[in-house]
Amino acid sequence: MKLFVRTFGCQMNVHDSERIEEIMVRAGYELALSPAEADVLVVNSCTVREKAWHKAISEAGRLGIQKRRRKEVLVVVAGCVAEQEKERVWKLVPVVDLVVGPDRYKELPAMVEEVRREGGRAARHGFDAGQPGDFLSTHASGKRRAASAFLTVMKGCSEQCSYCIVPSVRGPRRSRPSVDILGEAALLVSEGARELTLLGQTVNSYRDGELTFGRLLREMDQLTLLQRLRFTSPHPRFMTQEVIDCFGALRTLCESLHLPVQSGSDAVLARMKRRYTAEHYRQVAQGLRRGCEDISLTTDIIVGYPGETDADFHETLRLIEEVGFAGAFSFKYSTRPGTPAAALEDDVPEQVKAERLAKVHEVIERLSASARALEIGRTVEVLVEGKGRNAGQVTGRTRKNQIVNFVPKQRTVEELIGQLVWAKVRQALPHSLEGEEA
Ligand code: 5AD
Ligand code: SF4
Repeated sequence: MKLFVRTFGCQMNVHDSERIEEIMVRAGYELALSPAEADVLVVNSCTVREKAWHKAISEAGRLGIQKRRRKEVLVVVAGCVAEQEKERVWKLVPVVDLVVGPDRYKELPAMVEEVRREGGRAARHGFDAGQPGDFLSTHASGKRRAASAFLTVMKGCSEQCSYCIVPSVRGPRRSRPSVDILGEAALLVSEGARELTLLGQTVNSYRDGELTFGRLLREMDQLTLLQRLRFTSPHPRFMTQEVIDCFGALRTLCESLHLPVQSGSDAVLARMKRRYTAEHYRQVAQGLRRGCEDISLTTDIIVGYPGETDADFHETLRLIEEVGFAGAFSFKYSTRPGTPAAALEDDVPEQVKAERLAKVHEVIERLSASARALEIGRTVEVLVEGKGRNAGQVTGRTRKNQIVNFVPKQRTVEELIGQLVWAKVRQALPHSLEGEEA
């Protein structure tokens, strides 16, 4: 039996897909290279914005086409749309057999078995079916891992950002016991991971008794073989001095941070229930740069939140310029069912949202181009991930999370994958850097 998983959404979901694969492989499945050769097709879905929801629903329908040739194929909708729509998925996409929410992946092999044996359909949703705070972790597998690995430290979200559907599809915040995290970290590193990314919806709100997120970062930094530590996604409200002080002080903590701001207008931030001001965000950014001058900051921006005026939007542009983001994901506001903001009129006209989005793109493009231009002539440390854009090149990321394609001196691509290599940057391209091994 073969499994194919298509992933949408955030890094949390990318990690969840790896877990789904592991669970199924342990149950005897092999991984298929394409949907055409798979017996079980999984859409690991995202619903954070309306567009993501549509993508997941249409992908489930598209994968269902495989059933025309092979009736026995099963289509699974997993992830956030599964948790949001539950059994309604079957009304939306009749070709779907199984619906499984983000906290129920352990049950997937049994669900598949059940449907194969008895026919019909199955759905599992709701949070923490097993023990409370049950986390899918990586089990000792003895296999050599990729040099970069994810590590879940908490799940769910208890913030109440008015526009956001995540708390309702991922449940309330649950922090994982630190002994489990440190144990899994040690295992991942012993299996070859050199870069770890700590995951959680508001990752820096992590707490295990007295152990704060800042302490956790310090503990991780003690892992001798670990070279790079990252975390995503933090909330500005939990950027304590203790966490800020880790940047520039901890050997492994990379000089880059994705810190979603959403808006630069205090009025909009208040209505979004973000519970910080633009000034607080500026202070955090300044604090980070004090300890780590060269830190690369990126963010998320929502344009066209209900009631956003031109003046509000200009505040956002001003903040973007002042902080000097090296990159940003920006989105037009879209109403998510069941969220507090769904009660508000989505009153910013589509055309205005589109213009604001284009403006944000323009500013961010300019800022990110200048951030890349600063790297020309520098020698940077690259964690090599694979073959590069052009023949003879390899590709990887710097500590600032910039993509570098470079020509190796002597070693082959295979020898370099997973290695930290120094490269001299010669050129900055629209989304990456180019150079050669130093
Ligand atoms: N509309 C538009 N963007 C949204 N995001 C979350 N909810 C919405 C919404 N309803 C964006 C935020 C968040 C990112 C993951 O998605 O910017 O940080
Ligand atoms: Fe999408 Fe949010 Fe779910 Fe991640 S947690 S997959 S961003 S809805």
